[in-house]
Amino acid sequence: MAKLWSGRFALESSSLLEEFNASILFDKTLWHEDILGSKAHAKMLARIGVLNATELEQILKGLEQIAQSIESGEFVFDIGDEDIHMAIESALTKLIGDVGKKLHTARSRNDQVALDFRLYILKHNLYVQHLLLALMECILDIASQHTQSIMPGMTHLQHAQPISFGFHLVAWACNFRRDVQRLGDDYARNNFCPLGSGALAGTPYGNDRIYLSKELGFSAPTLNAMDSVSDRDFALDMLYSLSMIMLHISRVAEELVLWSSVEFKFITLSDAYSTGSSIMPQKKNPDVPELLRGKCGRVYGALIGLLSVMKGLPFAYNKDTQEDKEGVFDALKNVEICLKIAKACLESMQIHTQNMYKMAKRGHLSATDLADFLVRECNVAFRDAHHITGKVVAYAENRGVDISDLSESEIMAVDARIKAGVKAILSLESSMNARSSLGGTASQQTQSQIDTLRAFIQERKTFLDSIESAHSTKAQDE
Ligand code: ARG
Repeated sequence: MAKLWSGRFALESSSLLEEFNASILFDKTLWHEDILGSKAHAKMLARIGVLNATELEQILKGLEQIAQSIESGEFVFDIGDEDIHMAIESALTKLIGDVGKKLHTARSRNDQVALDFRLYILKHNLYVQHLLLALMECILDIASQHTQSIMPGMTHLQHAQPISFGFHLVAWACNFRRDVQRLGDDYARNNFCPLGSGALAGTPYGNDRIYLSKELGFSAPTLNAMDSVSDRDFALDMLYSLSMIMLHISRVAEELVLWSSVEFKFITLSDAYSTGSSIMPQKKNPDVPELLRGKCGRVYGALIGLLSVMKGLPFAYNKDTQEDKEGVFDALKNVEICLKIAKACLESMQIHTQNMYKMAKRGHLSATDLADFLVRECNVAFRDAHHITGKVVAYAENRGVDISDLSESEIMAVDARIKAGVKAILSLESSMNARSSLGGTASQQTQSQIDTLRAFIQERKTFLDSIESAHSTKAQDE
C-alpha cells in the first residue's frame, strides 16, 4: 500500500519495516482523542480561511462516521496505515474524497500525537482520582466503625503502643489523599494544548492556537512549538504518580497478607477474593493482595522505561518517542483494576477485633504510659522513669503476664516512687486514649481525622465534576 508520505520514495516499504515501524496496533487506543483533535483542527482551519464551510461540514461528518465505525468495531485497523493518525486520515479521504486531503494542512503528526496522548492521560488522570476517592471512602467507612478497636501499633514490626484499628486505616487513607493531590497537580501542570505547533517550528498559516486550546478544553496553548512536540513530561508525571499509588497499595497489600495469616488472624479475606491451593486442600491464599503487591513492579518498570527512552534525546520529535505509549497504557490498565479490587477486597473482609485486642495484650504496650505517669504524677526524671518501668516489665515477664494485668499493689511494690492510681493508666483503652495530641490515636482524634478526609473527598468530587467534561473525553468503568 502506498504510504501517505511516499512521494519521494522509489521502493515500497519492506514488510519487516512495516511491522517494526507501525504503532497502529497499540495507538489505536487514542482514536477518540485523535478524532476530537481533528475536528477542532478542521474548525480552526475554517476560521483562518483554509477550508470553506462546505468542506468543513464534509470533514466533520466524515470524522463522525469514522468515529461511529470504530466504536461499533467495524473499522479495520491496517498495519499499512502505520499509526492511528494516518489510519483516520486515509479513511477520511476514502470516505469523502479529495476534501479529506486538506485536513492535514498546518498540522503534523508530531503535534497530533502530542495532543492525543496528552488528552488521553488527562482523561485517565481524572478517572484514577475518582477510583482513589472511592477507595478512600471505603477505608474511612471501615475506620469510622473502629475508632475504639484496639490493636498493637508496631514499629520495626514489633509491638510498640496500642492504637485503634481505625487510626491505622486512616494512615492508609492519608497516603491515597496525597496520591489524589499529586494527580491534581499533574493535571494543572499539563493542561496545555500543543496542537498547532506543527512539526517543530510552528506553521505559516496563522493557526489560531488560542481557539484550539479553548475548543479542546485546555487552560491555554503550550508556549513553545519545539518544546510542545518533544515534551513527554506529562506521561512521566503520570507514570510517577501511578508508581506512588502502587507503592502505597503494595504496603496496604502487605499488611493484608500478614493480617490474614494464622499468626495474626486480624482479618479473614472473603472467599470471593481468595484462592485455593492445587495441592493443599486446607489452604486459602491471599492472591489478591499478593498480586496487588506484585503489580507494583511493572508500573515502576513503565516509569523507568520511559525515563530511559527520553534520556539524551535531541530536540524535537524523535521516533524513539513512539515507545512512550504501551507502558502508560499497561500501567493505567493495571492501576485502575488494582484500585477497584483493593476496594472490593477491603469491603468484603471480616475483621477480628478480639484477636487484635488479644495480641495487644501481649507485649507490655502500655509501658510508655507507666514511664509518663512516673514523670507527670510522681516527679521522677524521664531517664529514671524509663528504668523503673523496665523493672516493672521484667516483673510482669517473670509472672508471665502483661503489665496491664498486674495489680496496683504488685506494681507499687517494685519501686517506692510509684504512686497509687497507676493501675488505671495501664489499661490499653486508657493508653490509647491518652494519645490525644493532634493527629494521635485517641478515638476523638481519629474521628476528627476521618472528618477531615471525608471533607476532602467531598470537595474533590465537586471539583472533578466541574472539570470532567472540559475535554469532552471521559474514562469510565469498563
Ligand atoms: N506514531 C508516531 C508516534 O507515536 C506518531 C508521530 C510520528 N511522527 C513522525 N514524524 N514520524 O510517535
